[in-house]
Amino acid sequence: MTGKKQTDIKKILEDYYLSFQKDGYPISVNFRALVPELKKAERFTHLIHSYPAKLLANIPYFFFATDTLCPANGTVLDPFCGTGTVLLEAALSGRNALGADANPLAKLITDGKTVYIPKEQLQETLKTILGKAKKYRRIIEHPDAIAVWYSTSSLRQLSNLQRAISEIKDGPQKKLMNAGALEGQRLKMFNKLLALGGRYKRVNQYQ
Ligand SMILES: C[S@@+](CC[C@H](N)C(=O)[O-])C[C@H]1O[C@@H](n2cnc3c(N)ncnc32)[C@H](O)[C@@H]1O
Repeated sequence: MTGKKQTDIKKILEDYYLSFQKDGYPISVNFRALVPELKKAERFTHLIHSYPAKLLANIPYFFFATDTLCPANGTVLDPFCGTGTVLLEAALSGRNALGADANPLAKLITDGKTVYIPKEQLQETLKTILGKAKKYRRIIEHPDAIAVWYSTSSLRQLSNLQRAISEIKDGPQKKLMNAGALEGQRLKMFNKLLALGGRYKRVNQYQ
């Protein structure tokens, strides 16, 4: 960790424990201030996809900076892992990470977010995917309802991207590309909504 030292964090945690034991009151903690080095920065794959109620990465980062709650080579279980913020930080801290979530979308994003792929391999795969996607002309079959959410050009781009990703072999790279493509779909959908009315509340039109 680049900011506070392990010893500082141990001390901060101890002080929190003592304070809570003494009076039993909840403690107000500003994790952004405690771990300022993570300020709004892209950190590994945390921002690969947005998700409701995503955890601030500073929180697991802070707790994994010491062995107070989990030994340095221990295993972390997040049974409501969402998109894997805790799992990614656990893995980055050198721990084993296990997660579960009832939402299949969360599982898909977590799968993609927590795989390790060397940069060169990833760049190579990305080049292949984009090269193929640019050549395809046909929009792959989709339910009619999907077309409501996208402009024709977005639908074509996303469709081609999806086809190109589906053609790479199953494995970590496919998981990561699928998670990234999902975010692309979400952003394109958002663009269409903006073009339609410029307000989030226009979503109601389609509910
Ligand atoms: C607040 S979100 C977790 C967000 C996560 N920390 C992140 O950063 O992405 C809570 C998650 O709990 C999941 N969940 C709710 N009830 C569940 C259940 N009974 N079993 C498994 N997962 C559940 C939801 O699908 C949701 O993804």
